[in-house]
Amino acid sequence: MNYVPLSNSLDFEVHIISSAVISIAALVISYFSIPAAAPSFEAAGLFGIDIGKPKPTDGNPPHVPEGLGLVCGIVYLASLMLTDVIHSDSFLTDKINVLYMLSSSLLILGFADDVLNIRWRTKIMLSIVSSLPVVRHFWGDTTVSVPHLSIWHYFFGDKLTVNLGIIYIMFLVCVMIFCINSINIYAGINGLEVGQSIVIGISVIIFGTIGLNKGGITTVLPSENEQQGGVIISRSKDLCYFAIVTALPFVAVCLALWVHNKYPSKVFVGDTFTHWAGATLAAIGILGKFPFGLLLFFIPQIVNFVLSFPQLIHFLIPASIKSHLPLPFQNCPRHRIPRLDRTTGKLKYTPNLTLINTVLYFLGPMKEKTLTNVLILLQTICCSIVLLCYGMDWISI
Ligand code: UD1
Ligand code: MG
Repeated sequence: MNYVPLSNSLDFEVHIISSAVISIAALVISYFSIPAAAPSFEAAGLFGIDIGKPKPTDGNPPHVPEGLGLVCGIVYLASLMLTDVIHSDSFLTDKINVLYMLSSSLLILGFADDVLNIRWRTKIMLSIVSSLPVVRHFWGDTTVSVPHLSIWHYFFGDKLTVNLGIIYIMFLVCVMIFCINSINIYAGINGLEVGQSIVIGISVIIFGTIGLNKGGITTVLPSENEQQGGVIISRSKDLCYFAIVTALPFVAVCLALWVHNKYPSKVFVGDTFTHWAGATLAAIGILGKFPFGLLLFFIPQIVNFVLSFPQLIHFLIPASIKSHLPLPFQNCPRHRIPRLDRTTGKLKYTPNLTLINTVLYFLGPMKEKTLTNVLILLQTICCSIVLLCYGMDWISI
């Protein structure tokens, strides 16, 4: 099939409006379906205990239905199908189909994890296999415009491209694995998983919109001209449209889930949500050809990952060395979240290496709701700074 570039064939506004209508429908359907489905999840044994709440002195703590990200994911996939029908004659349809493949496979993997508690190494192997259709898009197309401060042009001229070859493909697989897992390990207090996903999703939409105003997302295309190093730097508006029409329904279903998951959580999102959301955002960024830009929206998750790294790989550290290291380096407990101080009703940090604990260490104990708000504000500030730099042309991504 010969794909017609969107920018030549379609009325952009009609497509954005139709995507907005699909997203509003997705929001309403998810909003009502989540509480309707929750009792079935609990009846099937999918529920958790809210660790940040005081344990009742009489009786057992209440069950919170778990894994409700499944509803969001299914509604999102239906939205993608509709989006695909609308864009069926355009360049976008190929990318939307690959996004659909990845999003659906990680939804199944996440749900399987909630039900079966899959091992880390099995999850990583399966996510590498799932990411192959996405990175396949870059076979032979590994010359990239390296992200840089715009002041670079002042000193060194206009061109900053490099052919990274297989390293770029490996980098993309790493971005994928990082995104799939990074939301999941930055979790454990009410509303944080969904809240961070909404902020990143909105940032992707704003990024696409700014990109449109700049004439498109920067891409590197092969060229006959040896003087230009065999490449030309071009801009693609179609990639901006791809990012916007796929991120809009993502944000919509997440907003619906947020209403039910925010403090005090009536449902938990489960690994179904965290894996699916990370994979979907990664695929949008990679297929939209802005993986470096996308990573900049994940700065708090990167910090959390770097802090967590020694605990995540604790089993690789020899026992003889481990015994000399501080406690957090010695093991990785099932939950690394803060501890509730029953007398004050506030959360206190625990000796686990996470960004949540670090914030509590520096800012002092906080109520769970305040802590979630502080962390989402931090995410918003980080993403806003990146968008400001991109919008003002201070950085080229
Ligand atoms: C990851 C984190 C773990 C964190 C957990 C919370 C790593 C290596 N693992 O594990 O430290 O404790 O996520 O999701 O960093 N829960 C709450 N309140 C919430 C959300 C979750 O109490 O707002 C609890 C519930 O008991 C829920 C459970 O966390 O059932 C879900 O944990 P799960 O997602 O299965 O943990 P992991 O992803 O393995
Ligand atoms: Mg989890």
